[in-house]
Amino acid sequence: MDDEKPKHVRRVRYKGKHPKSFKEKYKELNPDQYAEAVEKIKQQGRTPAGMHRSICVREILEILKIQAGETGLDATLGYGGHSLEMLKCLGAGGRLFAIDVDPYELPKTKERLAAVGYGSEVLITQQINFSKIDKVAEEAGSFNFVLADLGVSYMQIDNPERGFTFKYEGPLDLRLDPEKGRSAAALLKAISRRELEELLFENADEPHHKEIASAIVSRIAKKLPLETTIQLQDTIKEALDFLPKDVMKEEIKKACQRCFQALRITVNDEFGALEEFLEKLPYALAPGGRVAILTFHSGEDRRVKKSFQHLLHFGAYSDIAPEPIRASAQESSSNPRARSAKLRWAVKA
Ligand SMILES: C[S@@+](CC[C@H](N)C(=O)[O-])C[C@H]1O[C@@H](n2cnc3c(N)ncnc32)[C@H](O)[C@@H]1O
Repeated sequence: MDDEKPKHVRRVRYKGKHPKSFKEKYKELNPDQYAEAVEKIKQQGRTPAGMHRSICVREILEILKIQAGETGLDATLGYGGHSLEMLKCLGAGGRLFAIDVDPYELPKTKERLAAVGYGSEVLITQQINFSKIDKVAEEAGSFNFVLADLGVSYMQIDNPERGFTFKYEGPLDLRLDPEKGRSAAALLKAISRRELEELLFENADEPHHKEIASAIVSRIAKKLPLETTIQLQDTIKEALDFLPKDVMKEEIKKACQRCFQALRITVNDEFGALEEFLEKLPYALAPGGRVAILTFHSGEDRRVKKSFQHLLHFGAYSDIAPEPIRASAQESSSNPRARSAKLRWAVKA
């Protein structure tokens, strides 16, 4: 019935002064309603739940030199912070293609950007892996500028249901597109100890790769469950219980960060997707087109650097960044994630 009042849903109650879990952070999850509270959190150098803070925005716009009427690609739309700034530069007649593999966050970002005036006549979104940049360029024509801001967004990490963090209990998933491929839990059931050691070492330089791989594989062999983020954290804790007491807590935290990162990279084939993207990139750029790539991992930066140098040598690029650009001291102090960011650029010949 039309005139029936919507049922009032009580917000999630939390113990203590401040909300702790993701679901309890109802103010941060409703920024339109609680703009002041959200602004306060940002000023404290924190990222409100369900949001993402874009990194090196000014530096990226300086590299991309976007002109009104151009066609561009945001290869990693995420929360849409970079896209929004690029859209502001485009003006009438310009078009931004924006892609992401995440089927959950992409429609929300599309809606958020449409609500501030960037509808489908200027912003064309698609759920697709950037390794398929050639397919996107087939539809768009060549790009005057391309941005790729690698890795995951805060809102993906924050959401316990996605399994990206050991801060909260959640399924051990770690897929950017949970509708494709296999979860981290499924991967761990299928992998040998040797392969797991290699994965932890290659993807995250994990110094305790042998101990952690052995603990994981023996837990699975004993048919004990390893299906959640906290169960993985507990397994890592058990594996590292030989560490001196004074460093144990900090070392376990770092090992968990590295192991989750290593699994995420494998589950999403992040290096494979990046290599394919880098190979196809020059063909998708218009002559004089600019690309900016923001990385957060030495394995990513190494691949970008090598590809740019190689393609400069063979004349596909006319110029590349001599050194990576780093976030300013001010940005790094207000946003810790910016500290590991490296930004490289190239210009199509
Ligand atoms: C760091 S976030 C981007 C944040 C965005 N620049 C902003 O300002 O909000 C990275 C995004 O890239 C997406 N992503 C990661 N690998 C991808 C791939 N191979 N293809 C397409 N999207 C990818 C992730 O799902 C995530 O949303």
